[in-house]
Amino acid sequence: MQELQKILDQALQQFSAISEEAELEQVKARYLGKEGSLTVLLKGLGKMSAEERPAAGALINQVKQRIEAALQERRDALQQNILAKKLAAESLDVTLPGRGLAVGGLHPVTRTLNRIEKLFHSIGYAVAEGPEIESDFYNFTALNIPDDHPARAMHDTFYIDERHVLRTHTSPIQIRYMQTHVEKYKHLETMPDIRIIAPGRVYRVDSDATHSPMFHQVEGLWIGERVSFADLNSVVTSFLMNFFENEDIRVRFRPSFFPFTEPSAEMDMSWKDGWLEIGGCGMVHPNVLKHVGIDSEKYIGFAFGMGVERLAMLRYDVNDLRMFFENDLQFLKQFN
Ligand code: PHE
Repeated sequence: MQELQKILDQALQQFSAISEEAELEQVKARYLGKEGSLTVLLKGLGKMSAEERPAAGALINQVKQRIEAALQERRDALQQNILAKKLAAESLDVTLPGRGLAVGGLHPVTRTLNRIEKLFHSIGYAVAEGPEIESDFYNFTALNIPDDHPARAMHDTFYIDERHVLRTHTSPIQIRYMQTHVEKYKHLETMPDIRIIAPGRVYRVDSDATHSPMFHQVEGLWIGERVSFADLNSVVTSFLMNFFENEDIRVRFRPSFFPFTEPSAEMDMSWKDGWLEIGGCGMVHPNVLKHVGIDSEKYIGFAFGMGVERLAMLRYDVNDLRMFFENDLQFLKQFN
């Protein structure tokens, strides 16, 4: 049985030298496989005498168990090794400071619109909206814009098809709002005043430092029984004073022409040492009121339209309108 001891010593020594699991299984076969040295010894038991056999069998089995135990131990150790390596490779340093979450912000044009809406809301104006793809009826015809007006030309306006354009101004919203208002209050002898602002995107074939093919306007409209040009003056002037937080702002009206207002004017605002144009305005043309079924003998009102980017540029001191639409985060982050 000296041989058994030798086999055991050899097996234990070989196992401990192995570092790969697959190799371990191969070496195992040398002892416990079909041709393995222990298997051969066990087979040899049959040739022994009945007296010798039990003791020899017990000894061989003992060695077999010790070899199996050693195998399992080595297997576990190798597994542990793999796990330890994996953990080391994938380790997280939980003490590192976090990277932080990027916080989004509002676009300066959105901020400006919100501010405009808030200020008009405070003097009783509702906010009205309309579609950006507009029929030529709402964009032109209902606004008393004649067929040969340059705004109707292809080189000034984006046409979707023969009857539809990307709206060139927010004025069609006036028409839509007046139509629903008239319908809503037709059972009353006198309809309540219309007092809205209509902000939104508008489109024109135009592009340079102060013009973008897409920009924003905000339209104002007040229709009632006793609305005057003086009201227009006071609404616009007090809006601008509040918007710019500057009581010294003056507004100047220069005679102008729009097909949908009469009389019409350009509005200028005092700025630094001069005047800056900020939009157009006028008393709503009787033809426009007729188009939406409002009695122009009984009701009267004003409308105005201003460029939102222009207001934003002045308020934030930005000198190129295109900056608003380049999506340059360095620029945009300054407003948040
Ligand atoms: N719709 C005009 C424009 O886009 C502005 C305007 C609005 C003028 C309302 C008068 C009244 O130029």
